[in-house]
Amino acid sequence: MAGSPVSARKLEGKVAVVTGGASGIGERTARLFVEHGARVVVADIQDEAGARLCAELGGVATAVYVHCDVSVEADVAAAVDNAVAAFGSLDIMFNNAGISGPPRHVSIRESSVADLERVLRVNLVGPFLGAKHAARLMVPARRGGSIVSTSSAASALSGIASHAYTCSKRALVGLTESLAAELGRHGIRVNCVSPAGVATPLALDFMGLDREGFDRAIEAMGNLRAVGGAMRTDDVANAVLFLASDDARHISGHNLLIDGGMSVAVNPAMSVFKD
Ligand SMILES: NC(=O)c1ccc[n+]([C@@H]2O[C@H](COP(=O)([O-])OP(=O)(O)OC[C@H]3O[C@@H](n4cnc5c(N)ncnc54)[C@H](O)[C@@H]3O)[C@@H](O)[C@H]2O)c1
Repeated sequence: MAGSPVSARKLEGKVAVVTGGASGIGERTARLFVEHGARVVVADIQDEAGARLCAELGGVATAVYVHCDVSVEADVAAAVDNAVAAFGSLDIMFNNAGISGPPRHVSIRESSVADLERVLRVNLVGPFLGAKHAARLMVPARRGGSIVSTSSAASALSGIASHAYTCSKRALVGLTESLAAELGRHGIRVNCVSPAGVATPLALDFMGLDREGFDRAIEAMGNLRAVGGAMRTDDVANAVLFLASDDARHISGHNLLIDGGMSVAVNPAMSVFKD
């Protein structure tokens, strides 16, 4: 299996739900969670890919697939209930499912309310429901927990995504902070990760590029980052593992940017540092 070598199993005995777990960042994270001793519920709308992944991860003893549209409350409630039914508890909720919405070049003049609502429904209402139903189980269980959501570098940078997507991912940071303020007293930490430019179906579709074109675009972006080079799903999964694990036991309400420093460290037009 590709990825970093496992030095210590960080999630031994933990149970996780991963939404959007059938592909891309979610799939890689589900694999990493299992490598670290967790049992996972993969929740997605891509039934074949999700079931195939769970079979590969060891089947019902380790990984269970559930069909779950994160914008539908009954689906999300059933997905978290499934974790308890299959594995006895819920320790980690990874709200990762997302959609990119309209292509990035669509002006506000051509934008529709329907598109905005569709994106908010998945990217914001989805994590809201994930947190709501995870808390429903985690609070009375009194064993703490970790809720992590996938926001985006669009939470810090404007003009790199559609208006709808940017709104949804920024609101998700607000939701994360608000949840952290409430749930900390129950030992539940709430954080999000904010990646930029990982070659997944969502990103390729949004950019309208094939893999080769995407890699070229990312290479061209290299000089906008403090740290260049292509980012992979591993880079995001490792950050999620950290936030999900006890290694991050005093970290809550945080938005962890995984963008090579692009959003905060480097503005090449203003940099005083030359070669
Ligand atoms: N790839 C990037 O560059 C990038 C950058 C920033 C943020 N993100 C975020 O990462 C997350 C994962 O995306 P990815 O890049 O791995 O793309 P991906 O296309 O590989 O995975 C997205 C997954 O979400 C699932 N999904 C979509 N709508 C759903 C719904 N209503 N209910 C349940 N599942 C649903 C899809 O079926 C898919 O399996 C998203 O929230 C995305 O916004 C990605």
